[in-house]
Amino acid sequence: MSADIIKGKELAHKLKEEMSKEVLFLKEQGLVPHLTVILIGDNPASKSYVNGKKKASGETGISSDVIEMGVSTSEKELLMKIQELNNDPSVHGILVQLPLPEHIDEQHVIEAISPAKDVDGFHPINIGRMITGEDTFLPCTPYGILTMLKSYDITIEGKHAVVIGRSNIVGKPIGQLLLNENATVTYCHSKTTNLIDFTSKADILIVAVGRPNAIREEHIKDGAAVIDVGINRLEDGSLTGDVDFDAVSEKASYISPVPRGVGPMTITMLLQNTIKAAKGLSK
Ligand code: GUN
Repeated sequence: MSADIIKGKELAHKLKEEMSKEVLFLKEQGLVPHLTVILIGDNPASKSYVNGKKKASGETGISSDVIEMGVSTSEKELLMKIQELNNDPSVHGILVQLPLPEHIDEQHVIEAISPAKDVDGFHPINIGRMITGEDTFLPCTPYGILTMLKSYDITIEGKHAVVIGRSNIVGKPIGQLLLNENATVTYCHSKTTNLIDFTSKADILIVAVGRPNAIREEHIKDGAAVIDVGINRLEDGSLTGDVDFDAVSEKASYISPVPRGVGPMTITMLLQNTIKAAKGLSK
């Protein structure tokens, strides 16, 4: 068997086209969705992610700006800037690019952003709403994964979903979203013993490990849907995921590639959240 490839990039493109139409409609009503991104310091990976967000916003007609602050910015200065943006009615979405320099407490920053402008979906209020199944801003990577599964008509209800990874950004929330969709969810992580005992029973396997080839053919149940969230840069500069793509695609029924899989969907869902914020749908 050879798996169907879940083409995140194509799906992202289609969703962005639909969003462009919606943004045009909102602009005709005098509403211009606006995203403000704060970038602290000069981490090259963060800069590149922020550029990607700015570019994708522009392609969809969403207006955006990037506030760059020096690496020695104090936590207080950053919190004051966030307060200013919270109070600015022309700013609908606020995103502080992570990670932050060590002297700034990430949680203080996340909690300072108004939940109504928290397009990352990281604020504890929005996480709480996600857990109770209320309509809210969903964290972008898990939201993108869920959208991929649904777009490919992959059944979630009643299936056994195994999530490898328990970060606040990916692992924990994707498990919760799959549970909300009536999957039976197992979390695995770095302290799990006999990982294969769990992965080999997964109908849906979400892999967020951060290591190339961490998941191989022997980990996979026949016919599983495998979503690779890993982004690893190899010595030759190329990108690869956490899954041995060639071998696993012989056994799985669906597989998402890296690149052109989850990555493009993450940014797309950020735009979706920004439009939602502009429309005032999540307070
Ligand atoms: N750094 C890596 N991923 C993310 C993300 O989804 N949001 C923010 N704010 N920072 C990140």
